[in-house]
Amino acid sequence: MFIFVVMKYSFMQELIVKIKEQEKIANQLEVNLSDRKQLLDKVSAFANQFIEELPNSTSFTATTKASDKLAIKTPISIEALIKLYQSEVIDTGIKAASGGHVGYIPGGGIYTAALGDFLAAISNEYAGVFYASPGAVTIENEVINWLKDVFSFPKTAVGNLASGGSISNLIALAAARDKHQIKNEKITKSVVYLSAQVHHCIQKALKIIGLEDVIIRYIDLDENHKINTAILEQLIKTDKSNGLRPFLVIASAGTTDTGAIDPLAEIGNIAHQHNLWFHVDAAYGGFFVMTSKKHLFEGMETADSLVVDPHKGMFLPYGLGAVLVKDKEALLHSNLYTANYMQDAMGDELTNSPANVSPELTKHFRGLRLWLPLQLHGVKPFIACLEEKLLLTTYFREQLVEQGFEVGPEPDLSVSYFWYPAKENANEFNKKLMEHIHQDGSVFLSSTVVNEKFVIRMAILSFRTKFATIDKALAMIKRSLEKTKQELGK
Ligand SMILES: Cc1ncc(COP(=O)(O)O)c(C=O)c1O
Repeated sequence: MFIFVVMKYSFMQELIVKIKEQEKIANQLEVNLSDRKQLLDKVSAFANQFIEELPNSTSFTATTKASDKLAIKTPISIEALIKLYQSEVIDTGIKAASGGHVGYIPGGGIYTAALGDFLAAISNEYAGVFYASPGAVTIENEVINWLKDVFSFPKTAVGNLASGGSISNLIALAAARDKHQIKNEKITKSVVYLSAQVHHCIQKALKIIGLEDVIIRYIDLDENHKINTAILEQLIKTDKSNGLRPFLVIASAGTTDTGAIDPLAEIGNIAHQHNLWFHVDAAYGGFFVMTSKKHLFEGMETADSLVVDPHKGMFLPYGLGAVLVKDKEALLHSNLYTANYMQDAMGDELTNSPANVSPELTKHFRGLRLWLPLQLHGVKPFIACLEEKLLLTTYFREQLVEQGFEVGPEPDLSVSYFWYPAKENANEFNKKLMEHIHQDGSVFLSSTVVNEKFVIRMAILSFRTKFATIDKALAMIKRSLEKTKQELGK
């Protein structure tokens, strides 16, 4: 017995020594107050310098090879890490925080949203279930309530803050699938109607949610790249009379390629008359509903589900998309599942907890990055910034015409395109022009193909794109045009 007690004692002593040893090393993770201040000062100084230098920096540096300098070899000082971040991350590819990002759909990156992320990470609130952090989840839900107001959705609608437009669309389409119980042998007889201009995350979402084998009808577009509603209705009628199961119509409120807003009111009417789920992807264009273009969005409020991306139209850093769904039961059907270890968290109103209406359980506390800027700035500067983008788009197009370019149809919002009307091989000419623009890099534009024509796209949505940025872009385009002409001898 005595021996046993001594053995137990020495085992415990050894155990305590081991714990203390590990604790000493592990404690490095709890940075002390003076080191915290130093680290934050350095990161904050770097952030300030980065923002101050943005207007004069290039917006694109073509980089094809992954840097081997970014491999993990610890430990490195914060000064060395910041240098590495500058040279291997910031100075490569597209500078997404720059106002000179006028390609694809530009990003934002307002400072106050970054502060929201900082606070969310420091306090590490658990925003998945109400029981765990009623405050954080209430902030998530207040942001959703604000979105319901902006988009004239009923108070009874349910929503979720996801990582972006792709996951938000996926959540909405899964709800549509479950409302119409599209499963098993029904899949191959079910029909989805959309335009070839929908963002490709829609087709991707259909695959992920098990609907790869549904019938997809690509509806013809009019000359402004919008869904032709007469054709849509005819297709639905024909499909029904052929014994198929039309169940979903997808419209865009601002397509990625050309910024077109489909005729939402008409599409909504047709969808509901025929008992189809009406989904609107407004990831890019949605927030323009708060501007003088509000009339173009008429009918968006009739959607069964709606996706908007605050990391586009509210100028936030990447990482926040939102979905609103009117049919709470459908959304719960797709996402609600529980387990024994979740029993303490049950009992709250189900849709209060983000985890019950999205595929995520543990999630980034994303609500704060929108809630905090909205509370600090109010909504007015956001609306002014959107109006400014619309005006800059008009200015850009007018000036391009002056320079001898042709421009696409009057855009609904802030995405448009142009091309140089070279007499021969216009596509080859404009491709070369695009290459020169990318080599120059002072402003970043992207390209697309419209009716088999290679065109250069401009998408003005960054909050940092200003009058001076457009003039810089125009000067760059002029330089690049001269180079292209010289090179191709035109
Ligand atoms: C209209 C539209 N829908 C969906 C998406 C996908 O959004 P995300 O990139 O946030 O996943 C985009 C992205 O540009 C878009 O423009």
